[in-house]
Amino acid sequence: MGDTGGFGLAGRRIVVTGGSRGLGERIVRRLVLEGCSVATCARDEEHLRRLADSLEVFTRPLDVTTPELLEEFVAEAASEFGGLDGVVACAGGSRGRALDTATPQDWTTTWELNAGHTARLVAAAAPHLRAVGGGSVVIVSSISGWKPGPQAQYGAAKAAQIHLATSLARELGADGIRVNAVSPGSMLIPGKRWDRMRLEEPDRFATFTQEFPGRRLVDPAEVAAVVAFLLSDAASGISGANIPVDRAQNAPTPDGY
Ligand SMILES: NC(=O)c1ccc[n+]([C@@H]2O[C@H](COP(=O)([O-])OP(=O)(O)OC[C@H]3O[C@@H](n4cnc5c(N)ncnc54)[C@H](OP(=O)(O)O)[C@@H]3O)[C@@H](O)[C@H]2O)c1
Repeated sequence: MGDTGGFGLAGRRIVVTGGSRGLGERIVRRLVLEGCSVATCARDEEHLRRLADSLEVFTRPLDVTTPELLEEFVAEAASEFGGLDGVVACAGGSRGRALDTATPQDWTTTWELNAGHTARLVAAAAPHLRAVGGGSVVIVSSISGWKPGPQAQYGAAKAAQIHLATSLARELGADGIRVNAVSPGSMLIPGKRWDRMRLEEPDRFATFTQEFPGRRLVDPAEVAAVVAFLLSDAASGISGANIPVDRAQNAPTPDGY
């Protein structure tokens, strides 16, 4: 599967958090290509403006860790589109480093950015999804959610997102709402950490690629394709699942474990 359309998503109305850059941007572009109406948010207005200049998308600058702003955004998107058929919790990331230096605030912020915002996004979207008799929720977690890595606050928050998929699939399933997690392995995204390592530390990067049997990191387009599939009726039988898109990666970072 590449970046082309094909999951019968035309006309679906989807909210994607963190869609201005990285994987989120690839998901937004994929869904627009499929014919969806897409709303996305991020903190940096300039990145959002650049995205909106290049394709038709509803954008709002906001921090997803501020509950009222996230709730307002979901309500605004639903009003703009006349309803919602799906949501993708993609905003995420990590604060702080290893256990001996990570602060309590690093743990709290990492939790709020990943698991906290996901729970509130789903809660805010659920009434709109119920109104269309179902709908699909996709949570972008990580293989760090179950493979050990040096920033435990990140892995713990990603594990919580996988748990949310399994629990909320049960809680919302009676309303026809499906909830799944997608867990990318390390993705090669232009300008980001692994791409910088590829260019600046080629030996270290070559060692890291040995974590992948095919010696190639994950392409974000491969993850966006799985997200599109899970949003579609082709995935109607899948709920409460966690789907790795990791090219059989072993350790989730070049630092092991
Ligand atoms: N990169 C990888 O190899 C990898 C591997 C496995 C899983 N993942 C997961 O995949 C998702 C995307 O990762 P990525 O590497 O593509 O991230 P990224 O390039 O850092 O992009 C993150 C996106 O989320 C937005 N964002 C970040 N914090 C936000 C906040 N507090 N409020 C609103 N928007 C926020 C960013 O825009 P602003 O900064 O302007 O807010 C940006 O649009 C994350 O959940 C990450 O944990 C990534």
